[in-house]
Amino acid sequence: MIRRVSAAIAAGLLVAAGLAGCGGDSGSGSGNDDGKITLGFAQVGAESGWRTANTKSIQESAKTAGIDLKFSDAQQKQENQIKAIRSYIAQKVDVIAFSPVVEDGWDQVLKEAKDAEIPVILTDRAVSSKDTSLYETFIGSDFVLEGKKAGEWLVEDSKAAKGPVNVIQLEGTTGAAPANDRKSGFADAIKADPKIKVVASQDGEFTRAKGKEVAEALFKAHPEANVLYAHNDDMGLGAIEALEAAGKKPGVDVKIITVDAVKDGMTALSEGKINFIVECSPLLGPQLMDLVKQVVDGKKVEKRILTEETTFTQEQAKAALPERKY
Ligand code: AHR
Repeated sequence: MIRRVSAAIAAGLLVAAGLAGCGGDSGSGSGNDDGKITLGFAQVGAESGWRTANTKSIQESAKTAGIDLKFSDAQQKQENQIKAIRSYIAQKVDVIAFSPVVEDGWDQVLKEAKDAEIPVILTDRAVSSKDTSLYETFIGSDFVLEGKKAGEWLVEDSKAAKGPVNVIQLEGTTGAAPANDRKSGFADAIKADPKIKVVASQDGEFTRAKGKEVAEALFKAHPEANVLYAHNDDMGLGAIEALEAAGKKPGVDVKIITVDAVKDGMTALSEGKINFIVECSPLLGPQLMDLVKQVVDGKKVEKRILTEETTFTQEQAKAALPERKY
């Protein structure tokens, strides 16, 4: 564990080093207890292929960066994440990072971290806290834009449609930033075409099993549905199983749009079972470790760091698959 150097102290140290005629080194590892930064990371869970890739990216990059990582899996429960954060505070880690299960309800525990002078970095998902001084930075995707890209593809694809375009939406975990934002971005985009209607929308918890279960029920209740929009690949893959079991051809009888672009999703896209995927990158580890070092060094970091992402059609998926890392 090393102690964080505040911006003011860092500046003071540099001045002192300059006055003494020595080279100023405020880099990580200098002047600390055991030379290693300790990062406490409270992960959402292991609900999807995306999450597995995200966890791997964080664990591998911590190792590469020489950062001592304490890792916990909250099994998609906010109370478990709060417990993990409190335990990191008690252990006096140097930095806490976490991907909040839901957006609301973090002010108290974030205040406890602030009072203990432990900087917090949000990764992947945002919190709704009004007081942005409770965290240093937020690194992750623009989920509203992801939903918008999904909706824009459908508007374009529906230009040729003669009849109504009836959408079933599988939402991510209720209250989670990607569920809220992918829903609103999509709704905004499809307003452009009155033919397109969301006929049913339900929480599929970002998992394949729940996605399958919910899709089965919703397609039974809405036989008129001819499009499925799932907030992640895993729920889309579950829906594909449900549709096939009901004798339908996914990608043809029902057009499917998902978000993430993990290997299983990209494979289904290349096979014609999914029609369009909006990418959401889970490879946040290397950038997170850089940020952790900067924060410990007392450097000022951008408050919002956006991940770069693309989209994939079936043809693009075929070309990209051999190089796909996750
Ligand atoms: O927060 C990112 C989302 O969480 C991913 O799209 C989803 O697969 C994951 O569970």
